[in-house]
Order: sequence, then structure tokens, then C-alpha cells
Amino acid sequence: MFCLAAYNLTKSYIDSDQSIHVLSDANLEVREAEMISITGQSGCGKSTLLHILGLLDTPDTGRVLIGGREVHSGMPEAPMIRNKDLGFVFQFHYLVEDLTACENVALPMIIAGNNSTDSLKRATELLSSLGLEDRLNRYANQLSGGEQQRVSLARALINSPKIVLADEPTGNLDPQHSAEVWQMILNLNKEHGQAFVIVTHDTDSARLASQTYNLAQGKLSLC
Ligand SMILES: Nc1ncnc2c1ncn2[C@@H]1O[C@H](COP(=O)(O)OP(=O)(O)OP(=O)(O)O)[C@@H](O)[C@H]1O
Ligand SMILES: [Mg+2]
Repeated sequence: MFCLAAYNLTKSYIDSDQSIHVLSDANLEVREAEMISITGQSGCGKSTLLHILGLLDTPDTGRVLIGGREVHSGMPEAPMIRNKDLGFVFQFHYLVEDLTACENVALPMIIAGNNSTDSLKRATELLSSLGLEDRLNRYANQLSGGEQQRVSLARALINSPKIVLADEPTGNLDPQHSAEVWQMILNLNKEHGQAFVIVTHDTDSARLASQTYNLAQGKLSLC
């Protein structure tokens, strides 16, 4: 059984009078506890694909299945699936500026119905494991790009989702922090059986995944 699958995805954008075909028949199957990486040139459609898999965008055609069930961004359960079953690390972080790092991370756990004390405690643990114990009470705009990236990762992990979709989670990090984040992802994958789909430009780290795909001409192919 695949925890996440996508079949025959197509997606085009209309830009002035011309159509940009970003995805054309992209297919992906992710098994439980599997770690997949996706590489590809800038602009080839990696974020578009991840947003579709994360029910944040809709394909023109094709199907997305989570736990064997067909899902789409417009269905009434989509917010709950995004909150509980999926963790999303955005390429551009999208932290809430009026909240501290700790509050940003705790928010999805509070939305899921947990009390704020437990949620802030768990957020503190996660941020500390990512080396941010001194940044808990900083507001998002007081954090560096790499710090915001780690806060974004912690936020994606707080509800222990079965599937984590990460869009260049180490793109703003120096080599040491990048290696630490990859190690953390590998540990979570191994110890908690969380599946990861990671978009990265770092081809060396991409090989740490069990399957590495390349996205080109709108299609995914195994490397
Ligand atoms: N809302 C939009 N309207 C029009 N074109 C778009 C839109 N979003 C993305 N595109 C175009 O679709 C293509 C794929 O974009 P996408 O962000 O998925 O690329 P990417 O592979 O993630 O690139 P990068 O590695 O630079 O992050 C690009 O050519 C981009 O300009
Ligand atoms: Mg992108």
C-alpha cells in the first residue's frame, strides 16, 4: 500500500497569451516509511508538484491518493488532512510574523485540538533538537533565513504526520546545519517510520533517500 501516490498529473499556467506546461503525466508512488528525493532544474515544477501532493494546489488532470483514498485540495476534509496527515516545509517558510518561533511551531498542534501548554512544550523540544533553543521567543522577522527554515521544519513535524513534504528544507543552511537537518530527517524516517518527499538541489544529500527522482519536461523519472 502506498501512503501517497499521484497518477498522470498535469498542470499548466497561462502566462499572458501563452500556456506554460509545468507537469505532463507526472507519476509518483511513496510507500509507508519511504524516503524519496526529487531533484530538477530551477523552474521545472518541483514546488508545483509538491503543492499538488500537499493539497495546496489542484492539478489540471490526474489523481492524488493518500492512504489509498483519492483526495483533492477542495474537499471539506482537506484542511484536516493537511493538519494531521501531512507536514509541509515551504520553500519560502511562510511563518506567521506576529508569532514567536515557538508559537509558530506550536500552532498546528493547537489547531489539532491540543492545549497550548503541551503544544508549546513539544515545540520547545523540537526547536531545541534543531539547535534553536536560544531562538524560541524571537519573532519570525528576527530570525535568519536558515533559522526560519528550521522553524518551518519543526512546524511540519509537530503533529507527527505520516508524510512530510519538504521543499528545499536545507536550501538556506550552511553545510554543518544542512548535514544536521538531513541526519534528523533520516532518524525520523528510520525511528518513527515517517515518509519523506524532499525536493532538493543538493544532489549528494538527495542520494541519502531510498529513491531519487528527477523532474524534467513535466515528468518524474528514477535516477
Ligand atoms: N502562479 C503561477 N503563474 C504562472 N506561472 C507560474 C506560477 N507558479 C509557477 N509558475 C511557473 O511554473 C514553473 C514551475 O515553477 P516551480 O515553482 O514549480 O519551479 P521549481 O522547480 O520549484 O523551481 P525552483 O527550483 O526555482 O524553486 C516556472 O516556470 C514558474 O515560473
Ligand atoms: Mg521551488
